[in-house]
Amino acid sequence: MDRIRVTGGRRLHGTIPISGAKNATLPLMIASLLTEETLVLDNVPRLADVGQLQRILGNHGVDVMVGGKRPGETPYDGQTLHISAARIVDTTAPYDLVSKMRASFWVIAPLVARMGQARVSMPGGCAIGTRPVDLLIMALDRLGAHIEIDGGYVIARAKNGLRGGEIKFPKVTVGGTHTAIMAASLARGTTVIENAAREPEVKDVADCLNRMGAKISGAGTSRIVIEGVSRLSGARHRVLPDRIETGTYAMAVAMAGGDVLLENARADLLQAGLDVLVAAGAEISATNAGIRVARNGAGISPVEVATAPFPGFPTDLQAQLMALMTCAKGTSHITETIFENRFMHVQELVRLGAHIRLDGECATIEGVGKLTGAPVMATDLRASVSLVIAALAAEGETMVNRVYHLDRGFERLEDKLSACGAAIERIAG
Ligand code: EPZ
Repeated sequence: MDRIRVTGGRRLHGTIPISGAKNATLPLMIASLLTEETLVLDNVPRLADVGQLQRILGNHGVDVMVGGKRPGETPYDGQTLHISAARIVDTTAPYDLVSKMRASFWVIAPLVARMGQARVSMPGGCAIGTRPVDLLIMALDRLGAHIEIDGGYVIARAKNGLRGGEIKFPKVTVGGTHTAIMAASLARGTTVIENAAREPEVKDVADCLNRMGAKISGAGTSRIVIEGVSRLSGARHRVLPDRIETGTYAMAVAMAGGDVLLENARADLLQAGLDVLVAAGAEISATNAGIRVARNGAGISPVEVATAPFPGFPTDLQAQLMALMTCAKGTSHITETIFENRFMHVQELVRLGAHIRLDGECATIEGVGKLTGAPVMATDLRASVSLVIAALAAEGETMVNRVYHLDRGFERLEDKLSACGAAIERIAG
């Protein structure tokens, strides 16, 4: 298994190109199942999760072609996928595929909406929490699907097609909102979603579906209205920049010190995260080219943060912020409100010399003068990158093990950081 070795103490200077968003790319690729025509996606990141989803879609008969190299294209430019679900040959998503990537459960929506049936494995457990799919199933039920649970599979049937309905989510769910929007796009009549997720990735999927001929209004707000249509066409769509990757590199610059331009990044997608970084002592300026992040001289100030659905502080940046706070001048408190088990990185940060106390969903971080490099273990995607951020400031060498977690969601991380002066390299396993 690959590992990543970091020698800390280098400041970061230069430019980091931000890739397309993983959490928009996955639902966008799944939305291709809604039409027999070709969906072309630009700015698609080269990630393990994208590759895994290509295999899952292939299992349903979907043809995914990667666009050829364009003149002047750099290794950092996103790829273009031509996705054609002209003929769906199988409406079953098997356990051995779905269990590898939870978001693939969302194929249930376009399959039952377009084909009138779907048999999809339940995703199973996850390192960061129980993560049930009851609200996704509730949404399909509200649209008239007949639901059965059998042998670890959810079987959804709607032989006369889905019909519009009222969906009121008791709690904000990104996956539930994606599922409801995709299914309702081909349902007969009007669907109203209340307490919908407002994440920018939800808006990006709705924008793409509207390009395909859907009638969706209110995406990005908590009330979304969808007028179902009988069929959707092909379209071309550019994936929005990854706000979590943006926030991650901004935390890395704040941790190591320096001055970096996060190219293609958009401040409007991450205002809560940028506000916290300013409170922690970083200088942030939005430019036409992206977002400039700098920290020179000033120490890191402690902060009080609770994660929340968008536009609140994203749970997917919680671990990275905790790494930054390990070296703050004082005591910070971080409360995780979305996932019940998203503190797996704490004991690994403690191995680097951090002082962190957990009390239920709240972590108290006493800033220390310095961290010291050590071997550490990645446990999930965001926890793994928080260890890299801590290692950038730690004295000596840190070896991060099980970096396959990182490859799921960060494209060319060690290349992007070493191009800005970090002493970081991948050790092939
Ligand atoms: C999406 O997961 C993201 N994944 C997650 O990013 C992100 O952390 C999460 O949204 C929250 O922002 C993708 O987009 C692929 P939820 P999702 O449904 O949709 C509970 C990463 O690191 N819930 O919004 O699965 C659930 O347990 C990943 O890139 C139910 O109870 O998250 C959680 O406590 C990790 N029943 C809360 O709602 C349901 O049916 C929010 O989950 C569904 C969810």
